[in-house]
Amino acid sequence: MQDWPGLIEAYRSWLPVSDATPVVTLREGATPLIPAPVIAERVGRGVKVFLKYDGLNPTGSFKDRGMTMAISKAKEAGSEAVICASTGNTSAAAAAYARRGGMRAFVLIPDGYVAQGKLAQALLYGAEVLAVQGNFDRALAIVRDVADRYPVTLVNSLNPYRLQGQKTAAFEVVDALGEAPDWLCIPVGNAGNISAYWMGFKEYRQAGHSTVLPRMMGFQAAGAAPMVLGHTVEQPDTIATAIRIGNPVNKENALNVRKESNGDFMAVTDAEIIDAYKLLGQGEGIFCEPASAASVAGLIKRREEVPAGATVVCVLTGNGLKDPTTAIENNDATFHTGIAPETETVAKVMGF
Ligand code: F0G
Repeated sequence: MQDWPGLIEAYRSWLPVSDATPVVTLREGATPLIPAPVIAERVGRGVKVFLKYDGLNPTGSFKDRGMTMAISKAKEAGSEAVICASTGNTSAAAAAYARRGGMRAFVLIPDGYVAQGKLAQALLYGAEVLAVQGNFDRALAIVRDVADRYPVTLVNSLNPYRLQGQKTAAFEVVDALGEAPDWLCIPVGNAGNISAYWMGFKEYRQAGHSTVLPRMMGFQAAGAAPMVLGHTVEQPDTIATAIRIGNPVNKENALNVRKESNGDFMAVTDAEIIDAYKLLGQGEGIFCEPASAASVAGLIKRREEVPAGATVVCVLTGNGLKDPTTAIENNDATFHTGIAPETETVAKVMGF
């Protein structure tokens, strides 16, 4: 088997890179498309469900796809530092790729609202972390301002290279299925990823790699659902901290995706997100982070509308290990503590 070279090399002709681009890669991409029979059963009527498990990227989220591009292009332009605002995953990816490329990484995070694993990553990769007393939207406004005025490259999804890298996930889905799916279910926060997937599906079909385009179904947490409500949410709130965003910067793009793909946006409650999160773990053996489970929660909520026999891909954007706290606080496990270290006791607790 040949080594996977990372997505820039694998999809070079589809990306705005040249021989002059120093490729900064951790061999991201080539994540598995995993059949989900238990979820398919829940949807019924012969619908086939697959999970695009992007939590298996090097820093544990789909952000690596965008970051290999953003950092390579920043390096090509001679940049020595990058900056982002983040609910956690972008900061982890920016930190890892910036350091890999020999650059400084400044990351602004909403103080107290970033999952433990993500904070650990940014720190360990050597980012300069600024926890601001405000939400993601506020932090993003600040980094835009800083990047305008100082010599530091913005690597949020406003950076066009981010979406270029992220569109490769759509290529991989089509490569794996041999056709585009009928529906793509995806969590939506800043609305960059849904825009990137759509670009990827369109480009691939244009080139004859698929004949259909999916309906793009974007799911937001009910407490942070500006795309569903049609207006900014001042105080977004959800257990899915990754998508705790009230004013998505890519909203215009995303509205266009809805229109072009005959798609939709819908809110799922935190309770629905946690049900899907647990179902993925217990039913499919897949541990994703809460925000990612919004895609499956959404599919289950809208299952009646999926055509019989259709193929659906749900995007699992981040790894469950990112947020151990939510898993420990939300599970149906039998967890016996303080067990005496004796065979007898153990067997008894086991019910023998
Ligand atoms: N899922 C996860 C795990 C995320 O981290 C994000 C965004 C999304 C979904 C939504 O993607 O913003 O492109 O619509 N996380 C950003 C961050 C905001 O800072 O890590 P989107």
